[in-house]
Amino acid sequence: MRNAKGRGKAGQACRAVAGLARHAGVAVGLAALIAPAAAWADAKAGAAVFSRKCAECHSVRRGVIVTGPSLAGLFGRKAGTVKDFPYSPAVGASAIVWGADTLDTFIARPQKTIRGITMTSPGIADAAQRSDLIAYLATLK
Ligand code: HEC
Repeated sequence: MRNAKGRGKAGQACRAVAGLARHAGVAVGLAALIAPAAAWADAKAGAAVFSRKCAECHSVRRGVIVTGPSLAGLFGRKAGTVKDFPYSPAVGASAIVWGADTLDTFIARPQKTIRGITMTSPGIADAAQRSDLIAYLATLK
């Protein structure tokens, strides 16, 4: 009984907030404030970020080396393990395993995360752009 009542109240509160937001014409802005960035991650937008900020040096095709190693199959891979890519010793020594969290830290500040890395990209300061990009990187098999 108590639960059902609680839900009812929450529902009412939600409707009230939604009504208010619609009234003020700020429904979208309000939703963006409440939702965590990751919930909005958009792999398609991330592909565009990749083209602008990463593609000059990284291919997403397996076995294709540009200035940097291919980022195909990046998720779950240990740093510095693409065969035939001449990494600096810093990358493997970092012992990082690439996943959403490690990539977020790394892309925010590449040279601070792996001291001595030769990747010259300044990374991406914008957290929403990073989460879109990471959603895209997660699709690379
Ligand atoms: C100017 C060229 C350049 C740009 C731009 C660049 N990178 Fe790199 N990246 C490199 C190089 C070179 C390495 C290898 C560095 C080393 O061995 O020290 C590297 C390494 C990496 C690694 C480690 C890969 C592994 O196999 O462990 C990741 C992850 C990475 N880059 C992601 C990105 C992302 C994401 C972007 C875009 C935001 C980006 N890079 C932009 C040149 C670049």
